[in-house]
Amino acid sequence: MGSLIVFEGIDGTGKSTACRLAAEALRRKGLAVEVTAEPTHEGIGAFIRSGAAGRISQRAESLLFTADRWEHTEAMRKSVSEGKVVLCDRYYASTAAYQSAKLEGDSADMDWLMSLCEPFVRVPDVVILLDADPAATLERVGVRGEAESKFENLPFLTQVRAAYLDLAERYGYEVVDASRPADDVLSDVLQIIHEVL
Ligand code: TYD
Repeated sequence: MGSLIVFEGIDGTGKSTACRLAAEALRRKGLAVEVTAEPTHEGIGAFIRSGAAGRISQRAESLLFTADRWEHTEAMRKSVSEGKVVLCDRYYASTAAYQSAKLEGDSADMDWLMSLCEPFVRVPDVVILLDADPAATLERVGVRGEAESKFENLPFLTQVRAAYLDLAERYGYEVVDASRPADDVLSDVLQIIHEVL
């Protein structure tokens, strides 16, 4: 039996890098590792990423993320049952944190968002929350030079961060201070993973 390790955090906290480097370290130890992410890059995930849905409400968007998650969960369950360590960059806590935050006055209820995923998700063996001040992470995202998404603004990400910290307390996520140098963050991440494997 494998495991499911989930990385969460606001944009620019270094989740994808931490995920990739953790995967490399685990592979060096001889483990079978799979790195994956949500939104996925196929089917509904690709549709979400394309922006083709246009300006839709937080509730409607949460249903799209959830539909993508349904398909993705099946694939992750299979990999875990084959004995793989699956590292997933974002899972249902992203919907709970992002879609419960107010975007132009519109938001979805956190309990409703959690109730959407509860019937079908594979509960992660650990959720690692990379936490940092959005004022700093927005600068990082800016340095990357990517097109600004509707989510990348300070008031919105400040709410998302607070929602994540609330979820971490409610559900026992491991919170890692991501404002530190990448090596320190990675060493904490690896220690957390080794404790659950
Ligand atoms: P992100 O992890 O930034 O993807 P990438 O680094 O590959 O571009 O995810 C894209 C955005 O989608 C990010 O701003 C967070 C948002 N998101 C939600 O709002 N809800 C969700 O359920 C998920 C999975 C992502």
